[in-house]
Amino acid sequence: MAGPIGVGIIGAGNISDQYLTNLTTFPDVKVIAVGDLLEDRAREQAAKYGVPKSGGVDVVLNDPDIEIVVNLTIPAVHIEVSEAIIAAGKHVWTEKPIGIDRESSRRMLEKADAAGLRVGVAPDTVLGPGVQTAKRVIARGDIGRPLFAQTTFQWQGPEIFHPNPAFLYAQGGGPLLDMGPYYVSTLVHVFGPVATVAALGLKGTETRTVQVGPLEGTEFPVEIPSTVSVLMQFENGGQAQSLYSTDSPLRRQGIVEIAGTEGTLVIPDPNTFGGDITITRPLSEMVVPPAPVVQEVVEIEQEGVPSGRGLGLLDMARAIRDGRPHIATGEFGYHVLDTLLSIEEAVASGTFVTVESTVADPGSLGADFDPLAATL
Ligand SMILES: NC(=O)c1ccc[n+]([C@@H]2O[C@H](COP(=O)([O-])OP(=O)(O)OC[C@H]3O[C@@H](n4cnc5c(N)ncnc54)[C@H](O)[C@@H]3O)[C@@H](O)[C@H]2O)c1
Repeated sequence: MAGPIGVGIIGAGNISDQYLTNLTTFPDVKVIAVGDLLEDRAREQAAKYGVPKSGGVDVVLNDPDIEIVVNLTIPAVHIEVSEAIIAAGKHVWTEKPIGIDRESSRRMLEKADAAGLRVGVAPDTVLGPGVQTAKRVIARGDIGRPLFAQTTFQWQGPEIFHPNPAFLYAQGGGPLLDMGPYYVSTLVHVFGPVATVAALGLKGTETRTVQVGPLEGTEFPVEIPSTVSVLMQFENGGQAQSLYSTDSPLRRQGIVEIAGTEGTLVIPDPNTFGGDITITRPLSEMVVPPAPVVQEVVEIEQEGVPSGRGLGLLDMARAIRDGRPHIATGEFGYHVLDTLLSIEEAVASGTFVTVESTVADPGSLGADFDPLAATL
């Protein structure tokens, strides 16, 4: 087959704007339909981006020209919707996390395999020039041997911008399952699979209040730990410590520092597609305060074409046509979920938990991968 791949979207909520903005500008994909339980919402989004068809979920599932369906529903129904997509004979690109439990996520992957269909899982930020350049920098030995990482995500919480934030504090949400996929995916790209985790967690408050939109002022329950401190050991011996919190008045997020034997690599926020990348070299001599501590900081040029959400789907679309593996696979998404659930179990048990799954290096996106090129 030649020409762009037909794409449908299920879930016309908050994040659908970013997907629709990007996917409608990639020449290799053609967005044919948008569906949602709330059909008016789907119609509104389709009209805004010039997508020809819209309505309920079946408008997407029954369209013979759609090969890949993007699942932008909430995590609690990710598997149900992904399985419906597979049953309709279409490839799945799903937002993160892949699901909220291991059993149904594994079952969904098996169904896709049996049907000869692909599953791609967000985040695709890790395919952006930021993380991909960092991966190349490490591979060519610029920081020596990577030893450990430190990541921080802390702020007051998503109810400051999200009109329906309750799902972000329900099972399958929380700073760990909502934001963890960005940080853990980045760390697995750099260090490889996770072997063991330990963690502590707390709940800052029992309820939260919607702060924007029609539901402003509505209280909803906090079902999960809203602050989690994590230790991770990777199969290759590397280690990481990570903080995920929506209880911190001080906003500090997107921090990923990777210390190697010869330098510390600071990479961009893993919830973005790129940004500043630096390597800090060790001091050459002792500095005694109040003398300023000035370390050599090397700026690294980002390689790759800037992009946004939809990049992973585009890689999967081109891979389907080329008959090669795509990068953001279901197996990778499963390992990330397995790690996050193991962290939840470590919080509950107060012990180290072994991560049962593993995953091969998913490979890298070439620096010449151009989302705006017409290649199909
Ligand atoms: N909002 C963000 O900033 C953001 C960023 C990155 C990723 N994500 C991910 O994107 C996904 C969607 O998040 P969102 O913020 O857009 O949520 P949202 O609540 O704004 O939108 C979800 C949409 O899915 C629809 N929906 C729910 N169940 C459905 C079903 N069974 N069938 C069809 N439609 C259904 C809802 O009606 C709603 O329109 C989540 O997986 C989230 O983790 C969100």
